[in-house]
Amino acid sequence: MSPASRDEELFSILDRELDRQSTTLQLIASENFTSRAVLEATGSVLTNKYAEGYPGKRYYGGNQLVDEAEELARRRAMELFGAEHANVQPHAGANANMAVYLAVLKPGDTVLGMRLDQGGHLTHGSPVNASGQLYRFVSYGVTESDERLDYDQIRDLAKAERPRLIVAGATAYPRVIDPEPLRRIADEVGALFMFDAAHVAGLVAGGAHPSPVPEADIVTFTTHKTLRGPRGGCILSTAEHAKAIDKAIFPGLQGGPLEHVIAAKAVAFREAAQPEFKEYAAQIVRNARALAEALAAEGFRIVSGGTDNHLMLLDLRSFDTELSGKEAQEKLDRAGITLNKNQIPGDPRSPFVTSGLRVGTAAVTTTGMQEPEMAQVAAFMGRALRGRNSDQELSAVREEVAVLCSKFPPYPN
Ligand SMILES: Cc1ncc(COP(=O)(O)O)c(C=O)c1O
Repeated sequence: MSPASRDEELFSILDRELDRQSTTLQLIASENFTSRAVLEATGSVLTNKYAEGYPGKRYYGGNQLVDEAEELARRRAMELFGAEHANVQPHAGANANMAVYLAVLKPGDTVLGMRLDQGGHLTHGSPVNASGQLYRFVSYGVTESDERLDYDQIRDLAKAERPRLIVAGATAYPRVIDPEPLRRIADEVGALFMFDAAHVAGLVAGGAHPSPVPEADIVTFTTHKTLRGPRGGCILSTAEHAKAIDKAIFPGLQGGPLEHVIAAKAVAFREAAQPEFKEYAAQIVRNARALAEALAAEGFRIVSGGTDNHLMLLDLRSFDTELSGKEAQEKLDRAGITLNKNQIPGDPRSPFVTSGLRVGTAAVTTTGMQEPEMAQVAAFMGRALRGRNSDQELSAVREEVAVLCSKFPPYPN
């Protein structure tokens, strides 16, 4: 394509987005920087191909090479997590979860899931989500005293409700979710056990979080968070559920698979199997601990007193009772610090306002930042929020953030 025909209007937006990602701090717990190989596969000619069906059983011709790519992704996923079956076609985490429900539940069945306002995900039974409209979700939450899951309480609830399925996993929970007691509870009440590992998949792959695969009947995850792959979903299961899950994804829920993204998933699974990825996963957790400690020293209360994984929740009320999550997110954005407002357990404010922030370390760890940089990040956040009514102070922090980021470019050159 000649330079004259380049779509400047669109590509200048991409250039500016690369600049934003490179010059500001990315602390959204569900984001990461993929490798160039992942970007390349995602932008490959496989986007041109229709491949409804599965390897060896497609509805269109010309899929020999697509079959090879999808088989490679499936094999790598199974090897990485030690699973009997993998479906790599879910377009996203939400689709993966809906497909599992379609595969193992009937409308109206009872399901146990984590409370949304305490860290669960929309697809774990929110009334505004299809999961909450089609199935009878009953929620478990964290205790008031230590803001952690209490497996005895979950057992009591399971015994009272006799669910068909127990769903574990969260979008904003800073502690390890132990799959082992949940397996025992599921067995006690005759339920199936699904673990949504969307957030922690990379930590599991890197050995920094216990693997749910040996315990759960089905594990879903997203490939774009700690796993550091392309935006997408994946389902692992025992051989027993393989056929039902494959049918639920296609033709149940989706049409043509995104084979370019599936190819990029294959790349990411290979990267996550390398020894360096173990070190990466461990460093994510070390960085999260260091950041949580430094933020506590700035006056933020850390929900549950710390973190075991890649994220933490800040209770802003201890820092400043007037400061909401919404305002903090907006002011930090202006200071070059990107993160999201989040409800905290028992939050008196609405989900659109909130009293908390969610902070994650997966992306900054990819750029090479370590504990000393986490101390700097915490100091920037404290300074920006203390000086949030001064444009000058926010700009000054933004400049210092850019200097720090320039030493840790996500895509050098
Ligand atoms: C626990 C959990 N499950 C599922 C999802 C949905 O993933 P996606 O946004 O790819 O649909 C998320 C995303 O944040 C999540 O945190």
